[in-house]
Amino acid sequence: MAFSQFSSPPYLHCLLPLIFFILAIFVANSLADDPPLTLDYYASSCPTALEIVRKEMECAVLSDPRMAASILRLHFHDCFVQGCDGSVLLDDTITLQGEKKAPPNIHSLRGFRVIDRIKSKLEYECPGVVSCADLLTIAARDAVILVGGPYWDVPLGRKDSRSASFSLASTDIPTPDQGLLTLLSKFIPLGLSVTDMVALVGAHTIGMAQCLNFRARIYGDFEETATMNPLTETYLSNLRSICPAVGGGDNNITALDYVTPNFFDNSFYQILLKGEGLLNSDQEMYSSVFALQTKQIVQKYAEDQLAFFQQFSDSMVKMGNITNPDSFITGEVRSNCRFINT
Ligand code: HEM
Repeated sequence: MAFSQFSSPPYLHCLLPLIFFILAIFVANSLADDPPLTLDYYASSCPTALEIVRKEMECAVLSDPRMAASILRLHFHDCFVQGCDGSVLLDDTITLQGEKKAPPNIHSLRGFRVIDRIKSKLEYECPGVVSCADLLTIAARDAVILVGGPYWDVPLGRKDSRSASFSLASTDIPTPDQGLLTLLSKFIPLGLSVTDMVALVGAHTIGMAQCLNFRARIYGDFEETATMNPLTETYLSNLRSICPAVGGGDNNITALDYVTPNFFDNSFYQILLKGEGLLNSDQEMYSSVFALQTKQIVQKYAEDQLAFFQQFSDSMVKMGNITNPDSFITGEVRSNCRFINT
């Protein structure tokens, strides 16, 4: 008692609970708030960051047009597991189990070497400044522009996680066999709406899928959802020759959007109107018995490319803002995207 009287002002013990209370509210608010991301985050610390990413993405997409799709998907798979924190980029080590071998990712995700190349350029120019999570977010935006899609400003300032989650990557990333309600249940908890989901799935206007992901669909309800005509017959028999019902071919690939496979446009939604979506999950947006709201959104984007582009941009920013609150406290800027800093 005597000690506390001499070491601190006599009224401090009355104020302490109040100070703790204010601090607790402050901490709770800062965690619940929108992430502290800003458009000019690297303006003084690495003014060339955006340019470096864009140049490298230009080279990557020029030499392999599919790379635009692969980088876009990498960003999606990053954000759906612990938020956009670069966790998907981590390699397995003795002490860390990464996400790369989780079922939705294994033998499927591409583009890690492109990310490494961009990172080494960034580290050369501005060591220890630009996070892998931000790099991937910018690269995904540039990927979309490079294949004819819309531009949007990318809020920046994410930190890289020091952990990954194999189990969340196995459960939280939507899969092509799932029905509409299950698909929605993967988006809603992340703060993404029905409209966000339908717009984001429009990313399937570019890129490829492997036979094992569309076999059940082309030997299943494809003929029911599609209005079969000679052109559709030809398309379906072509798909079946790429992807036999039995006897292998699991990894054979075909375009998600057969009309303009390398061009970012709204033809994906027009394909859904015809009932010819390649993935079951894609066609669910239009043909599910629960597809009242999603069907209208698909119709709108099929008619109005500008509406799709505007919503896609907004939804990409929203998806990119899913943050890992932990990574702001314990996160870092990795020097190599594949490993946490030692
Ligand atoms: C309903 C949710 C979704 C499901 C079930 C789904 C499922 C899939 C599947 C199965 C593939 C083919 C993978 C393979 O065969 O190797 C794929 C490819 C792709 N997905 Fe999704 N996806 C969904 C949402 C999204 C979203 C939100 C984005 C991005 C914003 C996205 C972007 C892509 C891209 C660009 C590809 C092509 C990748 C490449 O060619 O390398 N997907 N998706």
